[in-house]
Amino acid sequence: MAQSRVEEIRERVDGDFARIVDLLGRKVAMRSVSAEGITGEHMRRSAQFVADELRGEGVDTQVVQSTNPDGTPGAYEVVGSKIVDPAAPTVLLYAHHDVQPVPDASAWSTEPFVATEVDGRLYGRGSADDGGGIAIHSGALRALGDELKVNIKVFVEGEEEMGSPSFIPFIEAHKEQFDSDVIIVADSGNWSAEIPSLTTSLRGNTDLDVTVRALEHPVHSGQFGGPILDTNTLSSMLIASMYAEDGSLNIPGLQGGDPVGGLQRDLDEAGFRADASVVDSYRLAGSGSLASRLWTKPSISVIGFDAHPVDGSFNVIANETRFRLSIRTAPGQRPEDAAKAVTDFLTTHAPFGAEVSVSTLDTGMGWSMDPDAEATRDAMASMREAFGVDPVNKGEGGSIPFIPELQRLFPSAQVLVTGPEDPKANAHSPNESIDLRSLKNNVVTEALILDKLGK
Ligand code: BES
Ligand code: MN
Repeated sequence: MAQSRVEEIRERVDGDFARIVDLLGRKVAMRSVSAEGITGEHMRRSAQFVADELRGEGVDTQVVQSTNPDGTPGAYEVVGSKIVDPAAPTVLLYAHHDVQPVPDASAWSTEPFVATEVDGRLYGRGSADDGGGIAIHSGALRALGDELKVNIKVFVEGEEEMGSPSFIPFIEAHKEQFDSDVIIVADSGNWSAEIPSLTTSLRGNTDLDVTVRALEHPVHSGQFGGPILDTNTLSSMLIASMYAEDGSLNIPGLQGGDPVGGLQRDLDEAGFRADASVVDSYRLAGSGSLASRLWTKPSISVIGFDAHPVDGSFNVIANETRFRLSIRTAPGQRPEDAAKAVTDFLTTHAPFGAEVSVSTLDTGMGWSMDPDAEATRDAMASMREAFGVDPVNKGEGGSIPFIPELQRLFPSAQVLVTGPEDPKANAHSPNESIDLRSLKNNVVTEALILDKLGK
């Protein structure tokens, strides 16, 4: 019997897989930590590496340094195209080549920047987020080779983990590099290594810096303690006041909703607890489905808090405290509105009349998928063929702020959010990894999607 298309593609990906894994290993070794300097030589080298690899797949790539909104030099971006037929649809393939920092290598079981295979997973910083996305694009292009029936554009970003600060000027200066019918963003992930998913929504992300001030200068904690509360305590009270008893946020104007397109399957609580590594006694906060709490309701984390370190502390009452909040916003809420809601709340709930000032840093909007787009249907069918099971679509609590920007400039483009991660990937954490069987199925999926879009 003649081989089916999926079998044919799988055979090619099998034959190419050692190269794909090797590429990923060399990508991990690039140490492209954008937090160590977006404009650093290590980031230029990483961009060049990606450009060279994709050029090998017939994409005419180049590395372009972006310009920040204030005119200073920005990130090293990889752009390129492979035009096969001007009349055919154009697909933009997205990934990012920057990775998260490794603040403590001793928390890893393997060398963070040496890709190491253990039990079918490849460990290393950026092995999943988002080296996996680059590997998927490379593998899918190789699998189709000259049979590619769509035009390809690529954009591999160098500053995604920093909130894409120069993306808007970059896209405005290079509109033709982005103009496309379908955009595949390979920076999210699957339900599990075995069950594929399209991502139905992403939350937005807004960071606020808050300063709580009570005194002109620190004072003796014995002489003044009692009537005067230190600003670490006052800040803690202010932070706690944002929450209801059950741990859900209680801030007027901060929106939350139900999973986009309805909840196909809720997350399993035991599995979620294990993936998050929570201690046994910890009770999960919030109410409603676990999925809605993670994907479509807002959350706030204190990601920085300037207090005196415990070691070397002495008996004074802190007069001023600064902390940083990271707000994950519901997919449809404008981040400016969310920032305003939280700012209004904080400035009107100052405990004991302390001075509270708030400044907004980054804002990034969330996103929701169009379930009826043709590309969505093609992608679901491709996942089913490649993984051999029905996809279970899911939202994501994380953010990819450039997607709504792109969608705003190209409103008719159909966006597919896919990617290499699974709940065990530990993105942003120690021991990040990618499941290699799942990576292979993701490559087969993307090749099938490109195939179907060309028909
Ligand atoms: N790949 C993630 C986003 C993501 C996380 C998708 C988890 C699916 C599951 C992305 O690289 C990321 O981490 N984005 C940042 C954006 C921020 C800097 C605005 C994030 O979500 O923190
Ligand atoms: Mn990512």
